This record gives sequence, structure tokens and C-alpha cells, in this order.
Amino acid sequence: MVSANPRGFQSILKRAFIAVSTEPAEILTRVVEKFHERRERGGPTCSYEAVADWDQRLHEHLDIEWPCPTCAEFGGLWSKAIQSLTSTGMRVGPMSFGPWNDGDAGLVRAVWSLTRHLRAERVVETGVAHGFTSRFILEALASNGAGHLWSIDLPPLDQDLRQQVGIAVPNELSDRWIYIQGSSRSRLPKLLSELGQIDLFIHDSLHSERNVRFELDRAWAKLRPGGAIIVDDVDANWGFHTFNESFPGHFCLICEAEPIKPDHRRFNEKGLFGIVIKRPSAISVVAGVAMAPRAFAPAGRYQLPRR
Ligand SMILES: C[S@@+](CC[C@H](N)C(=O)[O-])C[C@H]1O[C@@H](n2cnc3c(N)ncnc32)[C@H](O)[C@@H]1O
Repeated sequence: MVSANPRGFQSILKRAFIAVSTEPAEILTRVVEKFHERRERGGPTCSYEAVADWDQRLHEHLDIEWPCPTCAEFGGLWSKAIQSLTSTGMRVGPMSFGPWNDGDAGLVRAVWSLTRHLRAERVVETGVAHGFTSRFILEALASNGAGHLWSIDLPPLDQDLRQQVGIAVPNELSDRWIYIQGSSRSRLPKLLSELGQIDLFIHDSLHSERNVRFELDRAWAKLRPGGAIIVDDVDANWGFHTFNESFPGHFCLICEAEPIKPDHRRFNEKGLFGIVIKRPSAISVVAGVAMAPRAFAPAGRYQLPRR
């Protein structure tokens, strides 16, 4: 006989109540997205080979000197951000926000550096949690003296976690921030059509192939030539790979994450993130020609996985 766990049942009831009372329209999205995420989990994994010197290659591609004096500021800002959370007793790093990870130093450095160097004014991200990527985008926008960040986020149903959303973002940075509660599936299309064109897009929400493609395909259509897309956890699904197959010929980097402590769920105990920079010319050089991403990516940067 299976005995019921009353505390587990209470917790399910509590979550159901929060879902119905705060986001009734998102209940179906949560269920459908979860279903697809679980279904994808049974398939083969998508493996890449990361480049060790991605910071330098990124700067070379953008024609910016390396070592970069602007990026030298990052280390101090990162330590300050970590300290501001840990000093309040908050956990940071892998699985510090329920099952989710905080943005790691590598991902956040890429996000911060591209916001600064592209002088991005319209930045859209999905997935906030504690808000490390949000904080650093806002920090970079403040240093640039222009621009706004739109963050789409479907918070977990756990009440304690909901109170921690955006906790890494200090009040003095929030005047450039528009937080949009809801799933990327329900909110992103409308936001992008209102913004018209964007300079930078960051995916860090639900890491399923279905969701990554949904977000990237829409963001890409609105991304200005020379703009960038950053995708966290590219090794968690096939979304980034199939996206590069669909839109080949753009500068692409696979980079190793730098988590505060090992993430034992990942093949390399760290995880990977990806960067794509849209060609400055609006017309793709390979329009109409089906070619594999490997044909465009310098050796070692992007190893084509098989499934
Ligand atoms: C990996 S965390 C984000 C980490 C954050 N970028 C940082 O740097 O600290 C992912 C977040 O996306 C949210 N999320 C999950 N599914 C989502 C969806 N379909 N649309 C938008 N946000 C989602 C989760 O609740 C969680 O807060």
C-alpha cells in the first residue's frame, strides 16, 4: 500500500493555489512546457567542444583591444555582487534558486562585456531568478549612460523562492529595468513586436530545445545586424545547435561556464554557454544555401554533435 505524504500534498496544494490566484493563464503553459522538457530528457545529449580563450576571440571579432581595460573592471564588480548576497546569508551558485543555477562568472562576464562593447540600448533577457545577469546588464547600461533591460520571467510556484526574485539587483540600478512576469512563450512575441529592434538577447529561462528555439527564432528576427545572442546551458538541449543549423554563417563561440562550485549534473561539472553575433550585413551571405555550421566555424570552436 502506498502511504500519502501529507506535507508533500500540502505543498502541491499551496503551489496550485499560487498558480490559480496569480497566473491562471500560465497554468497550461507550465504543464505543456514541463511535458516537452521531460520528453526531451530521454534523447541523446548534445555535446560541444568549448574554446578556452573566448574572451580574446570575442574582442578580436569586435575589433577591440585585448587585454581590454574595460573588462578589467569586471572582477571587482563580480566580487562585490557575490559578497552582497552571501553577506545576507543567501546561497549563490549551482542550484541556489530551487533547481536553477545563478548566472556564473563566465556567462555574466560575456553578458556584461557585450552590453558595454555593443553599446546595447535595447536588451531583452528571459529568466531572472536571483538576477545576476540582470544586475550586470543594468550595471553595464548605467556605465554606458543609456539603454533599458526587459526581463521576462516565470517565477517558481514556491513562495520562498518568489521572494528572492531579483534580489541581486540593487535599487539604484532598477530605473532602467522593466520586469515582465510570465512565460517567454506568452510574453516574448508581444514585447519584441513593441520594441521593433533589439541589440542583445539573453536566453536563461527554461532550457528545453522547444523553448530555446521558440525564443531564439523570434529574437533573431528582431536582432539588429551586429547584435548578439547569448544562450546559457547549451549542452542541456539541442536548441542552440539546431538554431545554428537554421541560421548559419554568423560568428559563434562555445564557452565554458565558471560556476562558484562544481555542478555535478553537468558532463564537465561546469556547463557551457554559447554566443552568436549576427553578421553586420543584414543579408546573409549564404541565403538559400543549406550548409552545416561547421563550414563557417573555425576548427575547435563548434564541434557538430550527432543524434
Ligand atoms: C537559470 S534561472 C535564471 C538565472 C539568472 N539569469 C541569473 O543570472 O541569476 C531560470 C529562471 O527562469 C525562470 N523560468 C522558467 N521557465 C520559464 C519560462 N518558460 N519563461 C520565463 N522564465 C522561466 C525560472 O523560474 C528561473 O527563475
